[in-house]
Amino acid sequence: MRVRKKKNGAARFEAALDVITEIKKDAPEMLDVKEMLGERREYRLEVGCGKGAFAVQTAQNEGDVGFVAMEVVKDVIIFAAEKAKAAALSNLRFVCADAALIENIFPPETFDVIYINFCDPWPKARHAKRRLTYRAFLEKFRALLRAGGRIEFKTDNRPLFDFSLPEFEAAGFDVSCVTFDLHKSVYAVGNVMTEYEKNFSERGVPINRLVATKK
Ligand SMILES: C[S@@+](CC[C@H](N)C(=O)[O-])C[C@H]1O[C@@H](n2cnc3c(N)ncnc32)[C@H](O)[C@@H]1O
Repeated sequence: MRVRKKKNGAARFEAALDVITEIKKDAPEMLDVKEMLGERREYRLEVGCGKGAFAVQTAQNEGDVGFVAMEVVKDVIIFAAEKAKAAALSNLRFVCADAALIENIFPPETFDVIYINFCDPWPKARHAKRRLTYRAFLEKFRALLRAGGRIEFKTDNRPLFDFSLPEFEAAGFDVSCVTFDLHKSVYAVGNVMTEYEKNFSERGVPINRLVATKK
């Protein structure tokens, strides 16, 4: 996501540090979701939450679930954190960090569900390893899932979706609930839209979606 540098971005980021944990690349630290969110029925993670519409709405819908939303760009995560603060959500916290460091931030078997929503497609073949659905990333996410846990993946980008299907299989997941047009499918019920999803669907772009369950 390209974002113009916010004039007061640093001050807004500082003001949101009660709901954001910043992880520095050179000094990653392990986080304890129970300390962050208290005892919850389940813990879930969104990777690349952007401006936070999905995380905030999902946390509002399921108050007994603990949510962590991760985003690498400070000037983007401030929008998400400010939304969560305005809604006074006690079950949603943010981590400002690069997902490449994730195994140094959360211990194995922390989460029940991981959401990857509209990740950057990195269309050039030579950049395939940067995609969050590249198998090396998926293996890291898989280690963070509890037994029977799952990744829910949505994208407007059909080539990225076609690339991702075998990557999930190769990384030790069973893939199910595949649709190439989410909003016209049985899986539309209860679907929470992200900012990108709303934008693409308003332009008539079909949304691809799958569920990948840890084997
Ligand atoms: C295309 S946007 C989608 C945002 C949101 N999920 C949505 O659907 O509206 C992708 C987001 O993922 C973030 N992102 C990309 N790579 C990341 C990484 N390695 N770790 C954490 N966030 C990342 C970007 O900064 C951007 O905000």
